[in-house]
Amino acid sequence: MIRLDNVSIRRGASEILHGVSTQIPTASVTAVVGRSGVGKTTLLGALNGLLRPSAGQISVSGLGPLDDACLETHRRRTATVFQNHALIDRLSALRNVLLGLADTRHPLSLLPWPQAQQRQAAEALDEVGLLQYAGTRVDRLSGGERQRVGLARALVRAPRLLLGDEPFAAVDPNQARQLGDAIRSLATHHGMTVILVMHQIDMALALADRVIGLAHGQIAFDGPAAQFDRAAQARVFSPSVSKGA
Ligand SMILES: Nc1ncnc2c1ncn2[C@@H]1O[C@H](COP(=O)(O)OP(=O)(O)OP(=O)(O)O)[C@@H](O)[C@H]1O
Ligand SMILES: [Mg+2]
Repeated sequence: MIRLDNVSIRRGASEILHGVSTQIPTASVTAVVGRSGVGKTTLLGALNGLLRPSAGQISVSGLGPLDDACLETHRRRTATVFQNHALIDRLSALRNVLLGLADTRHPLSLLPWPQAQQRQAAEALDEVGLLQYAGTRVDRLSGGERQRVGLARALVRAPRLLLGDEPFAAVDPNQARQLGDAIRSLATHHGMTVILVMHQIDMALALADRVIGLAHGQIAFDGPAAQFDRAAQARVFSPSVSKGA
């Protein structure tokens, strides 16, 4: 379980999230939704330890409160699929996926990747349906295919916590469903905790157990996906209350 107690996050001069509290059960799939700029990516940054709270505390079961002592362990157990893919263009899909394992060996190693890790990377590509592009440079792949390479690079780490920033954004609906099924099975059968920022509400409702809706830097909805009905959606997506206008 991951627990947020009154977590506030600042970026630059402004506080983006104000006193957010929630609990995310192990082996569940949570969708984070909300208007553009509300702080969804910021929340993921706090969950993977890249952004430290300016107030409040994040605790992870088995580790306790995330502090300097356990942050590295938490980060090793966490994989993030970024909004902008963050792939290296001139490398093949397989080499990009292997980068997900980079922290398991010396950064300056010139040795070829061990067979076992190459096999792991190939399996991750197979999981996202891209095994046939293992040797293709990723700058020759479509946006959706690149997105899936980014997902494979996260999955190859066999993370306990998978964070995804709109991982289905550039993927067609059919492939999105397949990837969603693969992710669901990782949560259900392998105990992976999954937190995905999603902008397609129907897909979030089909895939997620729980929804966290952010509005105005706070949690405006937190509950089972089945309860995220039209009224709740309207509360989360309502335009900002005018401040000083
Ligand atoms: N590096 C940064 N420095 C300062 N402010 C930032 C930085 N990154 C983001 N912000 C601000 O933080 C706020 C929240 O950004 P965030 O990226 O978390 O939003 P989001 O909900 O993910 O939006 P989107 O749906 O467009 O991706 C925005 O107002 C943004 O301008
Ligand atoms: Mg974002």
